[in-house]
Amino acid sequence: MSGNPYQDDRGNKDRSIANPKGGGTAEGARRKGKAVTAPGGPFLIGDAMTGGYGKGPDILHDCTIAVDQGEIAVIVGPNGAGKSTAMKAVFGMLNVRQGHVRLDGEDITALSPQDRVAKGMGFVPQTSNIFTSMTVQENLEMGAFIRTDDFSDTMAQVFDLFPILREKRNQAAGELSGGQRQQVAVGRALMTRPKVLMLDEPTAGVSPIVMDELFDRIIEVARTGIPILMVEQNARQALEIADKGYVLVQGTNAYSGTGKDLLADPEVRKSFLGG
Ligand SMILES: Nc1ncnc2c1ncn2[C@@H]1O[C@H](COP(=O)(O)OP(=O)(O)O)[C@@H](O)[C@H]1O
Ligand SMILES: [Mg+2]
Repeated sequence: MSGNPYQDDRGNKDRSIANPKGGGTAEGARRKGKAVTAPGGPFLIGDAMTGGYGKGPDILHDCTIAVDQGEIAVIVGPNGAGKSTAMKAVFGMLNVRQGHVRLDGEDITALSPQDRVAKGMGFVPQTSNIFTSMTVQENLEMGAFIRTDDFSDTMAQVFDLFPILREKRNQAAGELSGGQRQQVAVGRALMTRPKVLMLDEPTAGVSPIVMDELFDRIIEVARTGIPILMVEQNARQALEIADKGYVLVQGTNAYSGTGKDLLADPEVRKSFLGG
């Protein structure tokens, strides 16, 4: 199926999402330092962000999260660490008092969330990420709101990725299981044909089996060439599929490295991965 952005690379084992540059550095996971970014800059970066909600106190302190082309980047950390806040900051839902957000080299710090969607950002927030009273199909149509062209191909691609959604397309999204709702939310974000996808806890509240299935689908999306920046509370499992990982604590970068580095780091294991 040529011209199908969600399927072109399916089954292409040569184009692994595993980062060819990964596999660990001599330094291992980096502690208490600035997250390291590639020369030329990553595809999407919230760089040294400091800021909070409205006129409230700063929640983020010099916080950096980023994802590069072909990668899955994962943000983990305790409850209240500022993971969702960092995602919202990158998406433009927060005052970034210091620092910058750049997409493909362009400074987008001043853009509204709507303008960021138009630039190619897809965002699935942690809560309220679907319209429960609308059908599955209507949710996907809402996702395509910025498009003026025919998006039926994209919808077919989303249905190919998540076959259960095709089956349930005329059902109210609120009647679906937790895992299926998350598929609706991710599908909705894919309807704009994003250049980068941000997911805040896509596996929240689902069983381990459903979590594995969702991770498989997320890997599949990444393989089609859409880099993924996601927050996960299933830290160990998420770092296993991560090219790059960030541990946030109290709004700041505590550790960063490849997923492999973080999984191997004794301190990260002890403090964040249950030993
Ligand atoms: N809308 C909001 N307004 C004010 N403070 C908020 C808001 N959302 C979150 N916070 C605060 O920001 C801090 C980080 O929260 P959050 O980013 O949701 O953490 P995490 O996603 O890591 O669990 C918490 O202290 C929380 O109370
Ligand atoms: Mg959160």
